[in-house]
Amino acid sequence: MKIAINTGGGDAPGLNAVIRSATKAALRRGWEVVGLRNGYASLYTDNPGEPLTHEAVKGITMQGGTILGAANRGNPFEIPVLQPDGSYIYVDKSDQVVSKLAEMGVDAVVAIGGDGSMHLAHRLSEKGLKIVGVPKTIDNDLVGCDTTLGFDTACSIATEAIDRISTTAESHQRAMIVEVMGRYAGWIALHSGLASSADVILIPEIPFTLDSVIKKLDDLKKHGKEHALIVVAEGAKLKDGAHFVKGKQVGQAELLGGAAAWLEKEIMARTGQETRSVILGHQQRGGRPSIYDRLISLRFGAEAIRAIEEGDFNKLVVMKENELRRIPIADVAGKFKTVPLDSDTIMTARDIGICLGD
Ligand code: F6P
Repeated sequence: MKIAINTGGGDAPGLNAVIRSATKAALRRGWEVVGLRNGYASLYTDNPGEPLTHEAVKGITMQGGTILGAANRGNPFEIPVLQPDGSYIYVDKSDQVVSKLAEMGVDAVVAIGGDGSMHLAHRLSEKGLKIVGVPKTIDNDLVGCDTTLGFDTACSIATEAIDRISTTAESHQRAMIVEVMGRYAGWIALHSGLASSADVILIPEIPFTLDSVIKKLDDLKKHGKEHALIVVAEGAKLKDGAHFVKGKQVGQAELLGGAAAWLEKEIMARTGQETRSVILGHQQRGGRPSIYDRLISLRFGAEAIRAIEEGDFNKLVVMKENELRRIPIADVAGKFKTVPLDSDTIMTARDIGICLGD
């Protein structure tokens, strides 16, 4: 048996722990393991990947990033190719991916990724590739599972940063706005905002009004609180508006961002209060995984190998109600999970007086 491991999409803390446990579990069974370099992209080159050995995965459980490299432009169905006039055409190389893996003698692929990667995995499985998926994204927006690897670490990093921003906000009696990642879902903003006692949390699931935010700041002042902490998801949107978008790069999803800067300007103009905005950005994705992420990542990797051993293909290994389960990748592909408005986390935020912008 020979397997390939692929880390697709953006990186997340915990990827290396999956690579290590999947590799070791496979080697123990006498299988061969190859790591694909920078996603599927290596499969169109002369250097499609490297063998993963016990030595290669030594000591990487606690390392951030991915030793295999990642690629956001890694969709083999639509590879952007630059033309002499500066435009791009898109080329479908998915058949090449499948045939190259067959030529390499790869029997199955462990695909570690988020919604985009699972969509690709599903399309590749329709072309005959045998895949087992592992759920990775700091955004926690994959359906069918309680949590994805990387989310816990991202929330911890965001919470730690917001705690620090809070003390300087208090010293200067400022409104501080912290923009966190999460794409079209508010998981990181909600969890880190709650954990750091934010006054306002704005998430994409609850379109906000500026009036509601300003009213909360006024109420705080009436109760003697001169500073305020606002956590805004990069995907937050106004009640009558769209998402704040920074732009779009070739072959990639739209880049969200700008909500914090917009709020900074509007709050200063409306209230005169000194206001500053901070974008946490990619530090939420970098560095060492939390203990929780290390553990689920190790468990996911080994479970993926057990699934392959049992011939249980085209499944995604998930954590559901604190147990490992396997669900069809087809059920996950092309969907994404947002914060349910009736969740107890939302109710808790409201019960303790946090303004959600509505
Ligand atoms: O999906 C993970 C994520 O970090 C999102 O939260 C964010 O919108 C996006 O990736 C950023 O992508 P990039 O690394 O291409 O800037």
